[in-house]
Amino acid sequence: MDASGIATDCTPVRYERQGRTGIITVNQPPVNALGQAVRAGLLRALALGQADGEADLLVLLAAGRTFMAGADIREFGQAPLVPFLSDVVAALEASPKPVIAVLHGTALGGGLEVALGCHFRVALPGTRLGLPEVKLGLLPGAGGTQRLPRLVGPAKALEMIVSGDPVTAAAALDIGLVDWLAAEPDPLAAGLAFAKRVRAKGLMPRRTGARGDRIAAVSPLLFSAARDDLARKSPHLFAPHRCVDAVEAACTLPLAEGLKRERELFLACMNSPQRAGLIHSFFAERAVAKVPGLAADATPRPVHRVGVIGAGTMGGGIAMCFANAHIPTVLLDTTQEALDRGLATIRRNYQASVAKGRLRQEEADARLTLIRPSLAYDDLADADLVVEAVFESMDLKKQIFTRLDQVCRPGAILATNTSTLDVDAIAAVTSRPQDVAGLHFFSPANVMRLLEVVRGRETAPDVLATAMDVARRIGKVGVAVGVCYGFVGNRMLHQRAREATALVDEGAAPDQVDRVLTDFGFPMGPFAMGDLAGLDVGWRIREERRKAGDPDTPPPGWLDRLAEQGRYGQKTGAGIYRYEAGSRTPLPDPVTADLIARDRAAKGITPRAVTNQEILERCLYVMVNEAAKILEEGVAARALDVDMIWVHGYGFPPWRGGPLFWADQVGLGTILGTITKFHQASGAKQWQPSPLLERLVRDGHGFASLN
Ligand code: 3HC
Repeated sequence: MDASGIATDCTPVRYERQGRTGIITVNQPPVNALGQAVRAGLLRALALGQADGEADLLVLLAAGRTFMAGADIREFGQAPLVPFLSDVVAALEASPKPVIAVLHGTALGGGLEVALGCHFRVALPGTRLGLPEVKLGLLPGAGGTQRLPRLVGPAKALEMIVSGDPVTAAAALDIGLVDWLAAEPDPLAAGLAFAKRVRAKGLMPRRTGARGDRIAAVSPLLFSAARDDLARKSPHLFAPHRCVDAVEAACTLPLAEGLKRERELFLACMNSPQRAGLIHSFFAERAVAKVPGLAADATPRPVHRVGVIGAGTMGGGIAMCFANAHIPTVLLDTTQEALDRGLATIRRNYQASVAKGRLRQEEADARLTLIRPSLAYDDLADADLVVEAVFESMDLKKQIFTRLDQVCRPGAILATNTSTLDVDAIAAVTSRPQDVAGLHFFSPANVMRLLEVVRGRETAPDVLATAMDVARRIGKVGVAVGVCYGFVGNRMLHQRAREATALVDEGAAPDQVDRVLTDFGFPMGPFAMGDLAGLDVGWRIREERRKAGDPDTPPPGWLDRLAEQGRYGQKTGAGIYRYEAGSRTPLPDPVTADLIARDRAAKGITPRAVTNQEILERCLYVMVNEAAKILEEGVAARALDVDMIWVHGYGFPPWRGGPLFWADQVGLGTILGTITKFHQASGAKQWQPSPLLERLVRDGHGFASLN
């Protein structure tokens, strides 16, 4: 630092000088979020820069791994604290001395809005720039909706603000969002280099807010088209529609009035329940990675090579997950034909991504070569992790684990992808149950983000830590769960499916049930989902159970009759619904209605009108009750674990935060009251109120108290 420089102590923001350049550095790990202390520090440092007679120009940068990644989300929902971020941005823009923002890592949300208030923007290689507020149920509330269109034009601004997706530094240069791509890897060096250019060219402050050329004479059609698009794709969401309103205001109102409109719209989003749900999802998604009670010294074992057993749909998808993370994978099956079929599917999947422009051909080829087909267990000898993904047969799985125990090196982790079977019983056939765990992927495994990490009775802490780490490396949301039938997700799903079918038995139509759940925000209802997954799957399981004399499995009903007729769902062109050639749109089918009517008659049921409210309560409250039992048994550690399983594995609307966050919003007293009423009416086991739920209501607590 220059000997004449002024160093201040106003952490987390410092002001100092090098030569004639005043340098403002934000240092608030981990992501330089713009909490109150940072905002106040920025104003103080800016004032010092203005008062510093030796400085003719200011550079604003951030220390650590990233530029400012946005407002401090933890402050949301509390009383706003001065100074507001919009005041900081306005002060930067008004500075009589040119201000250069140097961006690295991620310049997101409020961070990018701060940069938009500066007069010049420099980006280091690899920087991503975006306004992701919409993903938190918000819109940019510190002038972003007014300044971005002035800089990059309303069409591009609308795209960035409504999608929330970031752009690369190169794309930002193309659209005029940044002025220079620095070659220097260090923000300070880049800032000083750009300062020299500004001085050499005698550039004066350029205020984004004062620009009008890009927002003149914008066609109203741009906004009506955006609204039509949203009405089709995101009818439930609140914030994206408000984003369109705000950008339109930028193009139709003077800056001061546009900023006022943005503030009103921002506050409407801030007060919406969707904002609360999405922010719960944001923090819960990060919290699930930290397993309660897992010792900090449980260091993950290295995983450089993986084996996957079974080249079917599931195994192939799992192998793709590892190849996508550049982890070499041996894909094992018993016949060459099965391997060829599996690899052909994988190849087709990669080619589809290439065709859609999501993957470069060379990258697809590279990933494919990482998957090595094999017929020999000996090829798994040096694997660090093996995932078994064969069909649900305990005998077969036991045989496979016995073999793996013989061939795999000591310390290798042996995992099963079972969705229902007892992981402890599988582990017991090996000499190393401490190295066995469940890795329950969801279909299609290469797409779905959820991974239930099943901790067996004897699973070692470092094996659990490894599984959680592997989940992160392959881009999954790993959630640790314990052993029970169906684990967390399918156990709750099973309850919902039973209620949905019972509602139809009593008088509802399948499409009525589905519509109630899609109106709630699920991408599809239970019956459309059954058609997608294949009705034959559940039918075979029920048949097996009936043969085994399971008293919990009801006698064959209309769902079984559909499967008996070869109506398996989408794959056969008809199931519960019918499908027109080449279409996936479910259409109500009189054949199904007729089977249902005959089934009711055979059971002596007189159909009644079932209300949408009853459908919602029976399908969702039964899951809440089951989840409370799951928590009580310790199969899930926290309510947020259940929430993330349902958001990432079963399409529970993220803006509702997950089933238990949603239950807290409804009120546990209300839910328990209805559950009790259903129990009194039916006497059914699934409606027996969970003692945990009763205790929470008695103590006036919500599920949030269990996080
Ligand atoms: N506020 C508070 N905490 C934040 C935060 C934020 N904006 N962004 C991240 N964090 C926290 C995370 O919760 C996490 O905390 P933890 O270690 O205690 O779990 C820690 O910072 C590290 O975050 P990640 O684990 O997500 O780290 P990554 O390196 O994987 O990702 C990131 C970094 C890309 C910056 C990612 O954290 C992210 O996307 N953050 C949110 C960005 C965002 O949405 N910004 C807009 C905020 S709203 C806004 O700005 C309103 C304005 O318009 C007025």
